[in-house]
Amino acid sequence: MSKYFIANWKSHKNQAEAMVWLDDCEHWLTLYPGTGTKIVVAPPLHLMSPVSQYVMTVIRNKVQVAAQDVSPFPAGAYTGEVNAHQWAEIGVKWGLVGHSERREYFGETHQTVANKVALLLEQQITPIVCVDDEYIEAQAAALEPSLLTKCFVAYEDRAAIGTGHNTDSTAVQTAVQKIKETWGDVPVLYGGSVSAENATEYLRLTDGVLVGTHSLESSEFLAIVQQSLTL
Ligand code: PGA
Repeated sequence: MSKYFIANWKSHKNQAEAMVWLDDCEHWLTLYPGTGTKIVVAPPLHLMSPVSQYVMTVIRNKVQVAAQDVSPFPAGAYTGEVNAHQWAEIGVKWGLVGHSERREYFGETHQTVANKVALLLEQQITPIVCVDDEYIEAQAAALEPSLLTKCFVAYEDRAAIGTGHNTDSTAVQTAVQKIKETWGDVPVLYGGSVSAENATEYLRLTDGVLVGTHSLESSEFLAIVQQSLTL
C-alpha cells in the first residue's frame, strides 16, 4: 500500500518559504513517479489559501493540503473559526483533528473532535484523528460508529511530540493493533519525533507518518519520504 507523509508545519513558515518547499516536493515526486507516495501538507491558517492555490494551479495537485484544524460548528456566528465547507471550497482534502496540542492548549475534547470529524466527512474531507494511548477507546466511543472507518488515525504519544524521544516500535505495534480493534480497519499513521533515522521502522508498522519538526526543512522531510523506497 502507498505510504502517507503528512507535514504538519504548526505555527511556522511564511509564504515564500512555503512555495519553495512545495516545489522541492514536486521535484521529488517527479523523480520517483509511480511510487504511490502521498505527500500532504498542513500549513498554518494564513497560508491555507495561497498554498491551496499553488497546489492546484502550479504543482497540479501532486501534493494535497490538510487543515490543521476546523470549526466544530457549521457556518454561523463563530468568530475566528473556519468551517469544513469553507475548507472544501479551497480544495482542502484532509483535516487534522484532536492533535494533542489542540487538546492541551485549546481545550479540545473528545466530543469537540467528534463534531469536527462529522462536519469534515460531510464535505468529503478525510479526518486524521490524532490519539494518544489513553484516547484510543474514548475518542472512538465519542464518534458516531458509522464514521469510524472513514477516518485515518494518527497514533501520537504525547511524550514523543517535539521532544526527540520517538516512541518504541513495540509500543507503536501494540497501539496500531488496539486502534484496529477499536476503530475497525482504518489506516493508521505514527507521529512523534519522526526523522529520516527512525522513519523506516514506523513505515513498516503503519500506513505513514505525521511529521512536525522534521517537516519544516524540505530536505529533512524528503529524506523521510525517501525511506518509503527502501521498504
Ligand atoms: P514532531 O511533531 O514531529 O515535532 O514530534 C509531530 C506532531 O506534532 O504531529
